[in-house]
Amino acid sequence: MKITAIYATQRRAKSSTYNIAQRFIRQLSDPDTEVTEFFLPKSMPNFCRGCWNCFTDFKKCPDYGYLEPIIEAMLEANLLIFTAPVYVYHIPGQLKAFLDHFGYQWMAHQPRKEMFGKQALLISTAAGAGTRSTLKDLKDSMTFWGISRIYAFGRNIHASDWDLVDERKKLKLQKQIDKLAEKIKAESRNVRPSLKIKALFYAMRFMHKKLKFNPADVRYWETQGWFEKERPW
Ligand SMILES: Cc1cc2nc3c(=O)[nH]c(=O)nc-3n(C[C@H](O)[C@H](O)[C@H](O)COP(=O)(O)O)c2cc1C
Repeated sequence: MKITAIYATQRRAKSSTYNIAQRFIRQLSDPDTEVTEFFLPKSMPNFCRGCWNCFTDFKKCPDYGYLEPIIEAMLEANLLIFTAPVYVYHIPGQLKAFLDHFGYQWMAHQPRKEMFGKQALLISTAAGAGTRSTLKDLKDSMTFWGISRIYAFGRNIHASDWDLVDERKKLKLQKQIDKLAEKIKAESRNVRPSLKIKALFYAMRFMHKKLKFNPADVRYWETQGWFEKERPW
């Protein structure tokens, strides 16, 4: 399995989301597993400028230099992992800025066919509340990217740092992580898009084929053969 992990912050030892992600990675790994990791904001430090270049050619994004290695690693991966500590009930700003750079890749525009064969694991922790809305921020992008299977792991850990998390809580988390890791591993043998993803694909196909809002998007869907018999899964 190939895993690409994108961490919302550069915190490691003290980070709860990082430590939870590390346990998932250990549980999911076999000797052949390759893991590629990126840390925000270092790996992609810029905000989207709203230039719209990506909607005609994503390589024309002014930040493509930062994005290229991340895009390559995401396309190669079977599993994407995102971490997101809750910041004022939502994802940290640097993660939102990262996701904004992939607006062109939503199904309403030019989704990458590789995404329809992937799973994504979204990890969020909060001191007390907010993982649901935080995970929703991430889930929206994963769904509209066409990711076939999306798993959300959100927990209130009542602490600012991983070393302050109660030991009994950590043991409980370990059990929950190991259980979900098994499910992801089993599913990875035959990843098929969920009904929701397929339904969205057909709704967007109708929009592009019949309503033809954006010529660049229509051309893209035509080139993929998706107006005919080809499908991204
Ligand atoms: C700027 C900031 C905003 C935060 N906002 C919330 C919040 O809205 N709700 C909450 O329960 N915890 C909030 N927290 C606490 C973190 O979500 C929590 O400690 C999380 O586990 C940190 O994850 P990390 O260790 O991976 O960085 C906030 C922390 C920071 C630094």
